[in-house]
Amino acid sequence: MTQKNQTLGEFIIENQSSFKYTSGELSRLINSIRLAAKVVNYEVNKAGLVDILGAAGDTNAQGENQQKLDVYANEKFIQMLTNRNIVCGIASEEEDDFIAINSYDKNNQNKYVVLIDPLDGSSNIDVNVSVGTIFSIYRRVTPVGTPVVLEDFLQKGKEQVAAGYIIYGTSTMLVYTTGHGVNGFTLNPAIGTFYLSHPNMTFPKSGKIYSVNEGNYIHFPQGIKDYIKYCQQEEDDRPYTSRYIGSLVSDFHRNMIKGGIYLYPQSASYPSGKLRLLYECNPMAFLAEQANGKASDGFQRIMEVQPTRLHQRSPFICGSPMMVDDVEAFLCVANK
Ligand code: AHG
Ligand code: MN
Ligand code: MN
Repeated sequence: MTQKNQTLGEFIIENQSSFKYTSGELSRLINSIRLAAKVVNYEVNKAGLVDILGAAGDTNAQGENQQKLDVYANEKFIQMLTNRNIVCGIASEEEDDFIAINSYDKNNQNKYVVLIDPLDGSSNIDVNVSVGTIFSIYRRVTPVGTPVVLEDFLQKGKEQVAAGYIIYGTSTMLVYTTGHGVNGFTLNPAIGTFYLSHPNMTFPKSGKIYSVNEGNYIHFPQGIKDYIKYCQQEEDDRPYTSRYIGSLVSDFHRNMIKGGIYLYPQSASYPSGKLRLLYECNPMAFLAEQANGKASDGFQRIMEVQPTRLHQRSPFICGSPMMVDDVEAFLCVANK
């Protein structure tokens, strides 16, 4: 039961019995993400005040320049989940390999693995634009009490038990699903409590916003080019409005509330798309479907794709269901 003004803590306890497996472990996990979110939020908020901006000098698994808050958020989420001994494994955008937790402790009964993008949209930090954190949770497929292996992480998106994001925006929100719809909680920074502010979030069936980096237009597949031209045509409820923040979390959040579509297709610089299947596309796809939306790689449901690598990329088209259908139809026609 969702009730406005409920705190996230109360909500987790009340809804614990609706989880498929009710050991309380998943509740503890969501609770620890809630805590890490507050700590990272505090740091993101004061980013403009202290000398924390700029590149940290390291490069991440994708060879991209890391900024300091990426490193900080990565450490905080990993610390929180490791110290409290809540999960058996973590994979992160910022780590080349997955992390196994207490893997040789036979008494370790933890059965969940977490995949995270600790800071999404990090190029927006130094210009005071919203960033986020994305998380995805699975039950391990190998037996508890044994070390986690790659196979535990390379599961199809449809096997997710929970997923969500934190948006550090004009206000900070935690939005998540455990497969029973999507609920959004807003942080009251004065007392450090998340309140249920957006119960049962859903995508409008269609919308008037398209979000894509049009600078890459020349390199897009023909079907995507055709769809963008369609969005710009003067007919029926078109032209649509173009809105692109460059933070997947923020673009998704706005589109879910207002109705719209997000596209990151393949391009010359990213022949397989830019976004990572396991900790960007799949969690957003789970949220989208739980909110009556759709998520596709252009040809198939994102959550049906069998991952083969931890940092695998995928084209990503996600949002209001009728708009995603339109893009798939354009791609299908152009490919004939
Ligand atoms: P990250 O900051 O975790 O690397 O993710 C950035 C992603 C996504 O959030 C965003 O929508 C997209 O990259 C922006 O890419 P372009 O700058 O190529 O448009
Ligand atoms: Mn990202
Ligand atoms: Mn990131």
